[in-house]
Amino acid sequence: MFRQLFGRQVFGRTRTATDWPGVLTRYPDLIDVPAQARAITLLEGNTPLIPAVTLSEELGCKLWIKYEGLNPTGSFKDRGMTAAVTQAVYSGAETIMCASTGNTAASAAAYAARAGIRCVVIVPEGKVAQGKLAGALAYGAEVVSISGSFDDGLTLVREATEKLPIALVNSINPYRLEGQTSAAYEIVDVLGSAPDWLCLPVGNAGNISAYWMGFKRYWEAGRTERLPRLLGTQAEGAAPLVKGYVIKQPETVATAIRIGSPARGEQALAAADESGGFITAVSDAAILSAWRQLATQEGIFVEPASAAGLAGLLASVEQNRIDVKGQRVVCVVTGHGLKDPQIVLDQAEPPATLEPTMAALEDYLA
Ligand code: F0G
Repeated sequence: MFRQLFGRQVFGRTRTATDWPGVLTRYPDLIDVPAQARAITLLEGNTPLIPAVTLSEELGCKLWIKYEGLNPTGSFKDRGMTAAVTQAVYSGAETIMCASTGNTAASAAAYAARAGIRCVVIVPEGKVAQGKLAGALAYGAEVVSISGSFDDGLTLVREATEKLPIALVNSINPYRLEGQTSAAYEIVDVLGSAPDWLCLPVGNAGNISAYWMGFKRYWEAGRTERLPRLLGTQAEGAAPLVKGYVIKQPETVATAIRIGSPARGEQALAAADESGGFITAVSDAAILSAWRQLATQEGIFVEPASAAGLAGLLASVEQNRIDVKGQRVVCVVTGHGLKDPQIVLDQAEPPATLEPTMAALEDYLA
């Protein structure tokens, strides 16, 4: 029945925007993957750009939140993974591999499952949030835990994929960035032009690099008359791009960006600079405060690393490094809150427990 209904459009090679609205299909002229490749897609992208009413008032600007946690595996990684896995399968790969702080692992696992190929993910032991590990395992990936950091894992993966017939799907793979440019196009499609500022967390530095590529491509194509300034944020304990040297033992509550030697660090610094923006660092306390504000004031639940972009914006305004009054600002929140349930349980008051009586409830409400 399914095949009958959707026929070749879904399982064949034809890609049209209405039948198949993943990011490769929505922006076929802007995302560079082989046109004849069978798209491996979960209909990623097209995430909402939500006006942040309370925060906008507080900052005196127009602030939108790009809610990337609503991608199929709960993070922005799906945008790049559809392109990387499509290309890998097209070129004959039967196994893909990545190092990951968790989200890339879950995304790679899902797209590998979709493609029917093997997926091996290398993660830092004890430093991956529960929801991400659960995702990777659920999609059937082989999860290898190492007694080292993400950076150690990436070194290992680079070596393994050079030596063995395995496709690397970390963001040093250019197709990852190709797919991730789609988020920039979507923002312009909604706002009509690029915002004044784009704020986002920075870990391995692929995403900020991809956004800049995307905005520039749209600008060159005449689809936005302006470019945004980029404000990237790292966690203070994992801020190699701010400090200017490799951090051997990065540490932060925002485990997604616990990275000491970003693979695309130079590209990210160049992008921020070219845009007239910068990369900054904020404390874990500032990240958690922004994370709490997003959930309790805007109703947007994200994982802690995702709030780093907002934390960087709030800190930079406070320090008078930037003035956003009257401007249009977009904060990209990169992963869903359910990725890291433990952090909520660690931070919040435990639920009240009552006898199941009206008297007890009235007592409680008073
Ligand atoms: N936010 C989240 C939720 C992430 O998972 C990551 C990266 C970033 C931001 C930073 O993006 O690396 O492109 O600068 N996570 C990678 C992973 C490292 O393995 O899932 P970046």
